[in-house]
Amino acid sequence: MADIKSIDDMDAKGRRVLVRVDLNVPIKDGVVTDDTRIRAAIPTIEKLAGDGGRVILVSHLGRPSGEGFEEAFSIAPAAKRLSEILGQDVAVAKGVTGPSAHAVVEALADGQVAILENVRFDAREKKDDPAFASELASLADAYVNDAFGTAHRAHASTAGVASLLPSYAGYLMQREVQTLTSMLDDPKRPFVAVLGGSKVSDKIKVIDALMDKADTLIIGGAMCFTFLLAQGHAVGASLVEPDWVERAHDMIAKAKRLGVRLLLPVDVVVAAGISEDAQTRAVSVEDIPSDMMGLDIGPESARIYADAIKKAASVFWNGPMGVFEVGPFEAGTRMVAEAIAENADADTIIGGGDSVAAVNKFDLADQMTFISTGGGASMELVQGEALPGVEALRSR
Ligand code: 3PG
Repeated sequence: MADIKSIDDMDAKGRRVLVRVDLNVPIKDGVVTDDTRIRAAIPTIEKLAGDGGRVILVSHLGRPSGEGFEEAFSIAPAAKRLSEILGQDVAVAKGVTGPSAHAVVEALADGQVAILENVRFDAREKKDDPAFASELASLADAYVNDAFGTAHRAHASTAGVASLLPSYAGYLMQREVQTLTSMLDDPKRPFVAVLGGSKVSDKIKVIDALMDKADTLIIGGAMCFTFLLAQGHAVGASLVEPDWVERAHDMIAKAKRLGVRLLLPVDVVVAAGISEDAQTRAVSVEDIPSDMMGLDIGPESARIYADAIKKAASVFWNGPMGVFEVGPFEAGTRMVAEAIAENADADTIIGGGDSVAAVNKFDLADQMTFISTGGGASMELVQGEALPGVEALRSR
């Protein structure tokens, strides 16, 4: 990120600073149920406010229609939680741009913080509309992007606005990009990548990219059944993507060619369906009953996976091993999470999304080296794709 300015290079005193954050947090009955992303945004906000900047935050929340204010997607609950954590008032503008936004900004004193309403209430945001980017830019003297979780979106508040103001990367953005990039460029070896999730089609690029970097690649989650099909096993009623069997086969061949140790389950937990009181049993992958679906890796697979993880010097994990949200199918994901947490000497990086939810469920977050706040963004970075939110900051 040598060609990207840091907020350490900025004199924020008395300046209006527009800060793109990712406060896209889960909210239930008007209350934030997981404030991880809000906490992750705090260091940059405190730095800028502490330096006497007038901090104007902007974020999206969920996927509203883009036709104006919708209560269910209001940023207000996130702003309330932010204000509690910061220990100072955070004024909420009723609009994204326009008179209400300008009024809130004009009322800011040095060191104060305000937030605009959900930027996706305006349909022009997702179109990276230049006129909308100008309206955002007119609110501020400088721009900071700290929204790593949204860096894979080329939107007005993540990309367009950066060309209109002096622009900087916030601390979270820097840390995310640096951590993931150095893991890819120079991982401590052995480097073990653990990939789960339901679909090969979603993860194929990540599998392919990590195959070039990792010493051991572990596959779990429902996508393993497409791999098992490629190995010639019958997988019963398990979720499969028949169109992706050939690609799975290519990956198995690629692993052999490169000498990468590819670990696929040797046993799985099967049941007739997903429920808290499901009758389960662990079976060898040779013996998956035709009327049952695999919903977790089995205990022998979990033991083999944990063993490989324990010997790693660096671990990257994305995607659960099974339906960990449901008690009878959580054991595989739990064992993998515990093995990563217990390997205190290794660099352990959790790549966003469901694996973060799993780490939190098993209360292991503080034992990981780094937990990414970006699911989609971290996957795109690992796949080797340029992130528009990062590219827009270069040489600005
Ligand atoms: C996320 O939660 O992955 C980011 O906030 C991006 O949200 P989006 O997928 O709605 O663009």
